[in-house]
Amino acid sequence: MKLLPLMLTAAFGMISAAHAEDGYDLWLRYHPLEKPALESYRSVTNIVVEGRSATSKITSDELVRGLSGLLARKVTVGTKMRCDAVVVGTPTSTPAIASYKLPLDKAGSEGFVIRSVETKGCKEIVIAGNTDVGALHGAFHFLKLVQTRAPVDHLDIASAPAVKIRLWNHWDSIDGRSGRGYAGSSIFNWWEMPQYMDPRYTDYARANASIGINAVMPAQGASRYTMSPAFLTKLAALADLLRPYGIKVFMSASFSAPIEIGGLKTNDPTDPGVAAFWKTKVNEIYQYIPDFGGFVIKSDSEGAPGPSQTGHTQAEGANVVADALAPHGGTVLWRAFVYSDVNPEDRIKQEYSEFKPLDGKFRDNVVVQSKNGPLDFQPREPFSAVFGAMPHTNLGAEIQPTKEYLGFETHLVYLGTYWQEFFQTDTYGKGPGSTVAKVVDGSLFNRPLSAINGVGNVGSDRDWCGSTFNQANWYAFGRLAWNPADSAEAIADDWIKMTFTADPAFVKPVKAIMMSSRETAVNYMTPLGLTHQMGTDHHYGPGPWIDDVGRPDWNPTYYNGANKGGIGFDRTAAGSNAVSQYAPEVAAQYSDPKKTPPALLLWFHHLPWTYVMPSGRTLWDELVIHYTDGEKEVGEMAATWQKMKPYVDAERFNKTADFFEIQKSDAKLWRDASIAYFQSVSGLPLPAGMAAPEHPLSYYKALTFPYAPGHEPVLKRAKLPVADPIPASK
Ligand code: GCU
Repeated sequence: MKLLPLMLTAAFGMISAAHAEDGYDLWLRYHPLEKPALESYRSVTNIVVEGRSATSKITSDELVRGLSGLLARKVTVGTKMRCDAVVVGTPTSTPAIASYKLPLDKAGSEGFVIRSVETKGCKEIVIAGNTDVGALHGAFHFLKLVQTRAPVDHLDIASAPAVKIRLWNHWDSIDGRSGRGYAGSSIFNWWEMPQYMDPRYTDYARANASIGINAVMPAQGASRYTMSPAFLTKLAALADLLRPYGIKVFMSASFSAPIEIGGLKTNDPTDPGVAAFWKTKVNEIYQYIPDFGGFVIKSDSEGAPGPSQTGHTQAEGANVVADALAPHGGTVLWRAFVYSDVNPEDRIKQEYSEFKPLDGKFRDNVVVQSKNGPLDFQPREPFSAVFGAMPHTNLGAEIQPTKEYLGFETHLVYLGTYWQEFFQTDTYGKGPGSTVAKVVDGSLFNRPLSAINGVGNVGSDRDWCGSTFNQANWYAFGRLAWNPADSAEAIADDWIKMTFTADPAFVKPVKAIMMSSRETAVNYMTPLGLTHQMGTDHHYGPGPWIDDVGRPDWNPTYYNGANKGGIGFDRTAAGSNAVSQYAPEVAAQYSDPKKTPPALLLWFHHLPWTYVMPSGRTLWDELVIHYTDGEKEVGEMAATWQKMKPYVDAERFNKTADFFEIQKSDAKLWRDASIAYFQSVSGLPLPAGMAAPEHPLSYYKALTFPYAPGHEPVLKRAKLPVADPIPASK
């Protein structure tokens, strides 16, 4: 038995350090499989694609590229049926597919069926869709099976996306800056388009299609640019490129576009001139892009214009735009990230207060899109109370693959587990079992439209995401948007095998790192339900002492509530009563500190430092231990990674190892600075065996990070200007 790891390693072959890679190939890395696996795909030698569309061509090219790379032999492609082939197409393009009687009713318009069949002594693998795009998704799935060394002799798979709009959303400006992006600048060069379409856009389309992403918002900016004919010509060129991959384009829009470019004096959604503006503009856009997806609109939030300016509701605002899009089949993704600097209500209650009363008032082609939590993509938040509470509204989820609050590009934090926690939480919106996943995919309340929007982490860096492990978050986003009930662990398993190797000696420890990485980050950043403890502007390092930002709800002290008497934010009936926004079953749990999961304790409760935790330790001791564990766990992850050297090419190994050094010192900084501050408030000694912070609190307070990416000094202002449309339309 002892020999096994060695034997496996021999079978997989160690990757020589001389073979460096830059990560560009992502999970579509079609390197030759090791010997035993090659054997099991002996019968895969021909590909038959009868379809003639651009999508069919993409499908056959990908299969040739993938299979000839993985199987290290020539794989031929043809249009004539033959024995021992992978047959790909639709019942219309490929008559043989119609004759197999496949359960294509389960595939919808974007899904697929894959089946191993034997006819007249010939072995075939049939990959079928009702559309060419469905077949393309099936081809990528088949490649994944080979990449992950799955047996293919008895395949019987049917898959269709649970969610209709699966949007990859770039917070990039049209001048190339990347808002909250940590992988260089935008990959889209609008200046050069449409004449020069960087070949990279094609690889970008392949990557998105391979995980079923079917919509992209490539940039955002002021309407006077993004809605101009010059820009629409560029956007149309990108839409043409993405279309055969089954991907539509969306754009941001400013609610004040009628004023900014329509020459109107108002953006009042009930004004006939405003409605006419939207109709005319939308009609014009569809002349450029006949399958334009629609708009993502941020309104009445952080300085963005919105319907409240003229005394109207978010529903009235969304509907005027939706009515213009409806004849074309377009959608409004109306962001629920609405909160006001003049509203004294607990910030996390504002979204529900604003939107819940409007349930049923939005058009069917509007999706109200809420962040996973009620605050702002923090390392951990409870689910936003609107999920499960708006049965008559299409409610979409917005999640953030770009790690704005989780260590940017350098920290290894796999977000699959974060999103799984969110999607699998029970809202009790329609009794037990009303998971967020079922709300978001529309099945719980039988909604006509569903959407998941991911704030993307892709940039101009050669490895797309700033680090190899950040690619896993792009990958996991696509997989979970396709099926929000999918397992984060299964996704990590596939990703590791596709991106690195299937050698168990690598997969097992690396998967363990990924699966615990988010909890580790929570431990060293914001344990036990603390939130929003990062420094102003950059959102990178710790700043739990900050109390001087113009608005109370942008200050960490507002959220941690630390004082001599204890720590935390009281959101029970005795406090802000945010708990009352949840279904009674959930509210009962969150109202009682004894029933609240320790991971969310300080989100809902302000408790004495000496409060006794389920572990038997005091809250203060528990807090210090969590910070310390977080730092320790990063050290352990880094040490495990060192042992992975024989299995990874030098370039990706070294970059990851170096990034762990950054993460180690950042974790220490978070731990030491947070403990130094909270100890200055609690006045309590550290639990036995815990190291004191390396520096006095004054040292941490004096640190600045002016060179951190995404540094936005504008946040210091008490009130954002409402007139500037540029930051207003994400
Ligand atoms: C956060 C983020 C902003 C962004 C906003 C949003 O506040 O820091 O950069 O504009 O979220 O979701 O629109």
